[in-house]
Amino acid sequence: MHKGVRRAGITGLGVAIPERVMTNLELQQMVDTSDEWIRTRTGIRERRIADSQQATSDLAIKAAEEALENARVSPQDIDLIIVATNTPDMLFPATACLVQDRLGASKAGAFDLLAGCTGFLYALSVGEQYIASGTFNTVLVIGAETLSRIINWKDRNTCVLFGDGAGAAVLQVVPGDRGIIATRLGSDGSGGKHLKIPAGGSRLPTSEATLSKKLHYVDMNGREVFKFAVRALGEGAMEVLSMAGLTPEDIHFFIPHQANIRIIETAARRVGINMDRVLVNVDRFGNTSTASIPLALYEAVQEDRIRDGQNIIMVGFGAGLTWAGLAMTWYQK
Ligand code: ACO
Repeated sequence: MHKGVRRAGITGLGVAIPERVMTNLELQQMVDTSDEWIRTRTGIRERRIADSQQATSDLAIKAAEEALENARVSPQDIDLIIVATNTPDMLFPATACLVQDRLGASKAGAFDLLAGCTGFLYALSVGEQYIASGTFNTVLVIGAETLSRIINWKDRNTCVLFGDGAGAAVLQVVPGDRGIIATRLGSDGSGGKHLKIPAGGSRLPTSEATLSKKLHYVDMNGREVFKFAVRALGEGAMEVLSMAGLTPEDIHFFIPHQANIRIIETAARRVGINMDRVLVNVDRFGNTSTASIPLALYEAVQEDRIRDGQNIIMVGFGAGLTWAGLAMTWYQK
């Protein structure tokens, strides 16, 4: 946790939502599943899919441009760009560098951050440290994914769950008692085996054999991830609340990672936060990984649900296995 004199807050948000909607009925034609199964087990009704010309950086840049406009910040003012993603355009260079170039953010450093679906919260916490310490004034944090590219569309265990999208946030110093109050990052690498892409890295380079065994797609033990997720969201929220000196009653909005409505409802119940204070978009976007929290936050700010001075907690979990919690008091620029 960092409680410096300089408090970092979000001064602008932006999103990129691919136009193409894929419904559960469509998936029903592709694999042995049903709209009813997907809705009752996950809460997902539809998801967005990037078109074949759209890579992760394209979504990231669109979201970033809107966030910069909303923050009234020019690309030349950005000190650092962090792109949290599991689906970079290429293994290297970093997608953040592609974003930096296309934005014309000539002064900015840039790197990608890999922490599964928790990546956006990890990236916010890194950006916050640079601002609180006085090193930087403006950090652009992006969560962007084209998960449709790494899913086996013949595997019903995974293909019904994910969607594409991006969300971006501009972090700057904010006045008074607004901004990020506490952050908590966690990891349990022993669970890494439950959610992975086995091939394509240095352990198992891509070969004809790995391709024919479909080892370049997401491989998930859903039950194990589910158990971890419920525990991580609940405990992560309680821990970050206590670090921030807040109680569940002090929280206006709880923004959990959007993977499954049952995980969200169980975590909210455990923390003691009523569902009318929980932001949910998994029904319309599926699990967009690092984009899910900024997408939910953006919508609530656009709809004027989140107001200046309100307390928010965001909690995520994902591949790694990782988890994170972040508490902030909203600053409306
Ligand atoms: N349609 C129909 N049946 C299906 C489908 C489907 N799409 N998918 C699985 N099933 C079947 C299974 O094969 C299983 O059949 P069996 O009993 O004959 O073996 C049955 O449904 C029940 O499977 P469970 O795994 O028990 O189903 P569960 O209720 O746990 O729901 C789910 C599965 C939705 C995957 C759940 O476990 C879950 O949400 N887990 C967390 C996943 C997650 O959050 N992943 C993302 C992490 S974030 C990141 O970093 C990417």
